[in-house]
Amino acid sequence: MSVGIDEISFYTSNYFLDLKNLATVQEIDAEKYYQGIGQEKMGMPAPDEDVVTMAANAALPLIERVGTDAISTVMFATETGIDQSKSAGVYVHRLLGLTPNCRVVELKQACYSATAAIQMGCALVARQPNQKVLVIASDVARYDLDTSGEATQGCGAVAMLITANPRLVELDPEVGNHTEDVMDFWRPNYRSTALVDGKYSTKIYLKSLKYAWEHFREVSSLAFSDMQHFCYHLPFTRMAQKAHKHLARVNKSNLTPELLDRQVEDTLLYNRIIGNSYTASMYIGLASLLENCKHNLAGKRVGFFSYGSGCVAEFFSGKVVAGYEKYLHGDKHQLMLAARSEVSYDEYLKLYNDIDPVDGGEHVKAEGTTGRFRLVGISHHKREYISC
Ligand code: CAA
Repeated sequence: MSVGIDEISFYTSNYFLDLKNLATVQEIDAEKYYQGIGQEKMGMPAPDEDVVTMAANAALPLIERVGTDAISTVMFATETGIDQSKSAGVYVHRLLGLTPNCRVVELKQACYSATAAIQMGCALVARQPNQKVLVIASDVARYDLDTSGEATQGCGAVAMLITANPRLVELDPEVGNHTEDVMDFWRPNYRSTALVDGKYSTKIYLKSLKYAWEHFREVSSLAFSDMQHFCYHLPFTRMAQKAHKHLARVNKSNLTPELLDRQVEDTLLYNRIIGNSYTASMYIGLASLLENCKHNLAGKRVGFFSYGSGCVAEFFSGKVVAGYEKYLHGDKHQLMLAARSEVSYDEYLKLYNDIDPVDGGEHVKAEGTTGRFRLVGISHHKREYISC
């Protein structure tokens, strides 16, 4: 029996800022963003949108297909926690109408935790093959204004069903890990924006890739040349291109730079216009590969590098299942992305500054999302969600 990803769906806000407008305000060349970091647009959440509403929107198509009774566990991965105690997934559980017998838990380790959720989901399914585990990763990437991280903001959620005999990707059981206590990127509880040592974070990312890969090689018989495509964690798309060349060097690969670029290029298309979505980003990259690759991927092996600052990294692999193309949500994703509205720099600032109140009063959220779920208000420190 194989175990892995049976279905994948993602969601992002209906607002975006084109980075050329940010570059104009900063009086720098927009090519620094378009080419230098490989980002064009960044998603900005609407005032009535957060990790819960994005997650419910991402998961809805999966639940509509399998039914609300089918899910035994929801694992919610995020580093944009809305509560220190209650899992954001419990709100999603209600919004989606899941059964009281379905367990829900939230996982955190920066951008890595969705991968932990998937591995744990696979373990649950291996023990009870009739189970379906819903893994959701949902985040809003926020940095201080006028910092180097500002252009790498974004938002999005991805939902994946983990099942036995999956229809999209069979995951191999062997994984390589690297964990190290470092301060490259972090967000103390009292801050709404992340702190980052940008250049250092990119170095630690590459170092972790090498070590996670070396561990993977110790436990797996698969070599670099056994994988035809690679999905990397995507803080910005240039990071994946650099990482892939780094991994090729580690493996003394003789593939040309053009061929190496081709092994990652289809994974980058959505992130380039959504921005960083932390836990969700690598899996939105997987959706991008499956939905946009012109060649039939059936039987092809994909290498995955998941990185969470702080840091925990994991290299793992999976094989694309024959017939996968019949079970994708590509058309829906393309329509959603095409229907987004561009905001001006001033509108971006307004959205950026619309942070949650902390005074316990009654606060109504302005309408803005075109999604199926809304955060309508925060009153007496309680978040109120509705489905539209
Ligand atoms: N035309 C084309 N390219 C240009 C250019 C122009 N006019 N101007 C600059 N560039 C290029 C630069 O040469 C550089 O390319 P190289 O990296 O290949 O040298 C690139 O654009 C970026 O320029 P800078 O290095 O000057 O950019 P910066 O210092 O202002 O910011 C950054 C880069 C540090 C990554 C910043 O975006 C940042 O802090 N981001 C947030 C942290 C982050 O994403 N880290 C990634 C690893 S950690 C992680 O992955 C977890 C996570 O999700 C956060």
